[in-house]
Amino acid sequence: MKEIQEQIMRLKKEKNAVIMAHYYVDDAVQEIADYVGDSYYLSDMATKVEAETIVLCGVSFMGESAKILNPGKRVLLPDVTADCPMAHMASVEKVRRVREDYGDDVAVVCYVNSTAALKSVSDVCVTSSNALKVVKALPNPVIYFIPDKHLGSYIAKKLPEKKFIFNDGGCPVHTMIRPEDIHEALKAHPAAKVLVHPECPEAVTELADYAGSTSGIIDYATASEADEFIIATELGVMYELKQKNPDKSFYPASALQICEDMKKITLDKVLSVLNRDDVGLDMTEELMEKAHAPLKRMLELSR
Ligand code: 13P
Ligand code: SF4
Repeated sequence: MKEIQEQIMRLKKEKNAVIMAHYYVDDAVQEIADYVGDSYYLSDMATKVEAETIVLCGVSFMGESAKILNPGKRVLLPDVTADCPMAHMASVEKVRRVREDYGDDVAVVCYVNSTAALKSVSDVCVTSSNALKVVKALPNPVIYFIPDKHLGSYIAKKLPEKKFIFNDGGCPVHTMIRPEDIHEALKAHPAAKVLVHPECPEAVTELADYAGSTSGIIDYATASEADEFIIATELGVMYELKQKNPDKSFYPASALQICEDMKKITLDKVLSVLNRDDVGLDMTEELMEKAHAPLKRMLELSR
């Protein structure tokens, strides 16, 4: 392990590269990354780093967003098959139909967990950490929220003044977490605070002491006076939770909270991509230009 890490460090310097990782990738990858964070942090940071090359340790929409925001940089994906299933759960055709029905009244709000094609027909992107702020700032009375119905309905409940149209998509990992899982975990740990990602179904977020993005969950647990927490999001967050809070206890709500696509990113693949020239991102310039505006608008509205 140490040898691979040393090789990665050396190549990274030689190639003027930085390594960015999402909280859901393996501990060993988080350990060697220059920047680790949630989806918002990674897209924002991608616009700030000076290195010529970004190795994006996460699923493909994260690499695509980094490239769209920085067309002049090389963005390397350690495994191009690491793809978020939810990113494909909405349709460009349906977006067109909603626009025909609602005209200028509607804003198409696209969760960043989506393909570049979906972003390119949207008005603004959001992540789980800025969705409320961004949607609230939009002047449109109607919101078509794609692709995640759970995050969409979580935001809709907080903005009753707007009409929401939902799309039938969701994260397969978070959708599997059930309210019964939270009740079971609370039986075993009655004093624990329940921290939930808003990609979970409403019946689960309703049981939360805190609901928010992965960074939000980590910040909440770190600032809290409580000692025990039930965690309803992908288990990769446990690494940072324990790093920041070695004396606190964290219990997964369910053993199934594992994103197989995020776990495809390994140290071997990080090393191997640094040695190769192919980047695995298949986007035309026209697509990147169209998808750039909603991402840029998200960054502007959330800063
Ligand atoms: P955040 O990074 O916004 O917490 O979203 C979690 C997620 O599912 C990323 O794929
Ligand atoms: Fe997609 Fe869910 Fe995996 Fe995030 S955790 S990448 S939303 S499948």
